[in-house]
Amino acid sequence: MSIKEIFETMDYGPAPESVVEALAWLVDQGDRFGHFIDGAFTPPADGFESRNPATGEVLATLTQATQSDVDSAVIAARKAQPKWEALGGPGRAKYLYALARLLQKHSRLFAVLESLDNGKPIREARDIDIPLAQRHFYYHAGMAQLMEAELPDVQALGVCGQIIPWNFPLLMLSWKIAPALAMGNTVVLKPAEYTSLTALLFADICKQAGLPAGVVNIVTGDGAVGEMIVAAEVDKIAFTGSTSVGRRIREATAGSGKGLTLELGGKSPYIVFDDADIDSAIEGLVDAIWFNQGQVCCAGSRLLVQEGVAEAFHAKLRIRMDKLRIGNPLDKCIDVGAIVDPVQLDTISALVAANTAGEMYQPQIKMPEGGCFYPPTLIEGLTTSDTLMQEEIFGPVLVSSTFRTPGEAVEIANNTRYGLAATLWSENINLALDIAPKLVAGVVWINGTNMFDAAAGFGGVRESGFGREGGWEGLSAYTRPKGKTKPLTLIKPFKGDGAPADPLDRTAKMYIGGKQTRPDSGYSQAVYGKSGSLLGHVGLANRKDVRNAVEAAAGAKAWGKTTGHLRAQILYYIGENLSARADEFANRVNSMTGAKGGKAEVEASVQRLFTAAAWADKYDGQVHNVPIRGVALAMKEPTGVIGALCADEAPLLGLVSVMAPAIAMGNRVVLTASQPFPLAATDFYQVLETSDVPGGVVNILTGSHTEVAKPLAAHLNVDAVWSFSSNNLSSTIESASAGNLKRTWVNNSQAVDWSLDHSKRFLQAATEVKNIWVPYGE
Ligand code: NAI
Repeated sequence: MSIKEIFETMDYGPAPESVVEALAWLVDQGDRFGHFIDGAFTPPADGFESRNPATGEVLATLTQATQSDVDSAVIAARKAQPKWEALGGPGRAKYLYALARLLQKHSRLFAVLESLDNGKPIREARDIDIPLAQRHFYYHAGMAQLMEAELPDVQALGVCGQIIPWNFPLLMLSWKIAPALAMGNTVVLKPAEYTSLTALLFADICKQAGLPAGVVNIVTGDGAVGEMIVAAEVDKIAFTGSTSVGRRIREATAGSGKGLTLELGGKSPYIVFDDADIDSAIEGLVDAIWFNQGQVCCAGSRLLVQEGVAEAFHAKLRIRMDKLRIGNPLDKCIDVGAIVDPVQLDTISALVAANTAGEMYQPQIKMPEGGCFYPPTLIEGLTTSDTLMQEEIFGPVLVSSTFRTPGEAVEIANNTRYGLAATLWSENINLALDIAPKLVAGVVWINGTNMFDAAAGFGGVRESGFGREGGWEGLSAYTRPKGKTKPLTLIKPFKGDGAPADPLDRTAKMYIGGKQTRPDSGYSQAVYGKSGSLLGHVGLANRKDVRNAVEAAAGAKAWGKTTGHLRAQILYYIGENLSARADEFANRVNSMTGAKGGKAEVEASVQRLFTAAAWADKYDGQVHNVPIRGVALAMKEPTGVIGALCADEAPLLGLVSVMAPAIAMGNRVVLTASQPFPLAATDFYQVLETSDVPGGVVNILTGSHTEVAKPLAAHLNVDAVWSFSSNNLSSTIESASAGNLKRTWVNNSQAVDWSLDHSKRFLQAATEVKNIWVPYGE
């Protein structure tokens, strides 16, 4: 027998990891768990079983939290929060380091328990989940240490409710808990019902680290408990899970003033160009779709291969699939473990069974007997309209299609409601770096896939949710600006007798697509000064005007591709042109508001424009040194089309403060002027017209904020909606935004002090960080 033949006929023997320690830990806890509230475990009560999906064996019994459990956890977190925050960054950092060290010390126990509970291969739990969880705590210990020096203008939010899924139980816990604690918050976390054990082991670790009681609280249970947390008196909800539940949480928290971050589903493209290193791309694919049985939100589940190499690539892929080993997750030789639960197995099976398109391939590999297993599956020859090219399967099922040109690859890749991640393979650096910015995704991996690090923020765009976890950008979800706020008060227009100051018709139009446009309704409203004199009329925008303005904004996409240098010049120009007409605008503001702040307001507006101009070519991204061969380029991209209801009380400054940073970053805006005092905005059209602002970049509507809020927030071509109206429309906007899960920034019951420069906050809200992982170095 030749050596080659020996190698080819040799099979792996099983190499099982011992479960003794993990089972002993469960026995120590009595195999029954209560919740972890205020630093102690509560007595176990009525609940449900947590099973090993690979065998069906019961591992432990967990308690279903009641309303009173959730209340106790929130009270404990609330009580602990001020002291925890007062410890200061360095004080908190010590605990985060301690947690990281303990996770490291007990990493084998965590890995085995995770694998038992979730069904993931022990290799993955051991080499990926647990080390990344530790890394997250180390990284955020550093963030706590640096908070006071580097983030002097922000403070903790308070109590955070956190709801996590079952695919990366401990890792998702660490993504949620580490940044929250670092920034001085306390938490109430609910692990997923299928996989709560490592969260409970983590609670044990919190005790060992001497973490003050109430800082971390863990309650177990199903979606009903999740709903209780969402409804509780918490300051923020952080959720990772399905898009449908994310949408429900958006609706449930609308208008509540609670912060919200959602990390939801995906259908991420995996693009292979004809010049790719095919063998590497095949290995990458194994990681992309068979890692964690494909139960990964950013799984490369949609394979797109360039036509010239498609046949050869698929042939190689099928051969590689034949070699995948599926079975006991605790066996170190296993590539594909168990699906988390029979419910998820049924979901996957039903989705695949319902598909009639394409050609399916499942390798003839030995399947384990019993347990929740699903074979690695490839469905070739699909088109973008096929259900499985659009729906997240969340299982080991890869769907594939082909493309001819790079342009077509981008189009097919972006043909999805999601935007979490994308992978591309090419040996041509020009091509790779040309395509990466065109992919609509929060993360892009070049010649690699499924790489993560605490330093590189993770999160999506579109219906993959909003907010980032990790990196500096991830911290903003756990902080709020320092300083006092004033309650919002509704500003009503002045009344008058309708007598015109002069006989000419002074009805201002709206400003859409660079043109002054009459309102669709044909209706207008009078604007009176404080003494009741008629100052003019403005059009009343309706849903059609909103649609026209959004269409114009969407059409001005090229603005996002212009250079910061060009945008800076245009913003300076707007500032200069406004400055030249300062007196006229100051008089206008004074005549509308009946106050004397016009001059200061115009001066501040000019400064906002100059500040935005200054930032236009400086608000850069970062390069993260990630501990993998490569760097992550954290690029700041414009959010897209931003709709805003501008402040009533500062008719010019409120509008300029929103517009300037937004367009500086390459966004297009649909602004609704101050409702009671709209005429400074309508005068502003002329400034825009004389300042080379391309049509459609800035669109201005007038009329009722209530009328505009809903169609704007519901419009699918709008990417973000902000409201600074004195009419609290937060609830309307946030519920209507749930459709395409657009970003919202609403003032709720708090007024903004426009005399202060909030440019940095606006720049941040006007951009999305996209992390592009590029091979670099050795
Ligand atoms: P899910 O979204 O229902 O569950 C995630 C978490 O949310 C769990 O802790 C669950 O108890 C909780 N939850 C459920 N309903 C809730 C509600 N109304 N309010 C508050 N919390 C609630 O996900 P599920 O059912 O486990 O999986 C269904 C599908 O979701 C999967 O097939 C997959 O497509 C997707 N999914 C996506 C994940 C991601 O990371 N993007 C993670 C898990 C699931």
